[in-house]
Amino acid sequence: MKKYLVIGNPIQHSLSPKLHNHWIKKNNINAIYEKKQLNEFELEKIISELREDKISGINVTVPFKVSIIPFIDKLSVEAKEAHSVNTIYKENNKILGHNTDISGFELAIRGKGYNLKNKTVFILGAGGVVPSIIIALKKMNVSKIIVSNRTEKKAEEIKKKFSYIKICSWGRIPDFDMIINATSVGLNNADELELKFEKIGSNKIFYDVIYNPSQTKFLINAKKLGNQIENGKMMFVYQAHQAFTIWHKVMPRIDEETIKLLDL
Ligand code: ATR
Repeated sequence: MKKYLVIGNPIQHSLSPKLHNHWIKKNNINAIYEKKQLNEFELEKIISELREDKISGINVTVPFKVSIIPFIDKLSVEAKEAHSVNTIYKENNKILGHNTDISGFELAIRGKGYNLKNKTVFILGAGGVVPSIIIALKKMNVSKIIVSNRTEKKAEEIKKKFSYIKICSWGRIPDFDMIINATSVGLNNADELELKFEKIGSNKIFYDVIYNPSQTKFLINAKKLGNQIENGKMMFVYQAHQAFTIWHKVMPRIDEETIKLLDL
């Protein structure tokens, strides 16, 4: 039986095993998908297990999407551009690192019918997933991307690679059409970003990369004020869908049943 893993720290919130094991069963594949909490010093070892075929594929989540890169032999164009890896596998005796977050985000936005052409998007956070979101937004022809991060230096680091973005200091709120929470604030139900919602108004799109809990305080507050809200569930589904297709060479179905699986 082939073994697949999602690695991260923390990892208990991950719904990847539920989704992948559902598709594995539906497609009669002899495999199992598990989650594993790791520390950074264990990354090299887990990749060696892939090399030795003890594992057949790895998904990577926070906080290892960048720190895993030195242990990988070859990056896909997307992984290289985002400098972020979330899907790993072995091909022709080489460990390959790919990024399915970029297209995951794009498919999720397009799937909901949002047209971001010529829109201004404001991103909160500068962590591992942000470069992928920036690349996807650029592909969707947004006119302006503004990034704000508590630690401004990290936003400046991102600007070094994506010179077209603007940086806004933490706490300030620029004019925008869509705001994306790409921080980890909200993963614990009680946590909340201190946003001056009253200054934002209504009729904007509020997107939270977090999908568990399904509605963070960020989304709950935004909805109360008459904004459209979207959590990271479909981005999660699409990134998983692509990882699954690469690993098993089977395109699994995304249907009601699949999506319901992830309802919390
Ligand atoms: P990493 O930074 O290792 O890639 P991440 O989970 O992808 O990890 O990123 C966490 C993001 O959430 C960062 O942008 C972080 O801001 P800092 O760079 O200032 O740490 C942000 N974040 C986490 N806790 C936060 C908090 N309490 N308030 C504001 N931003 C927070």
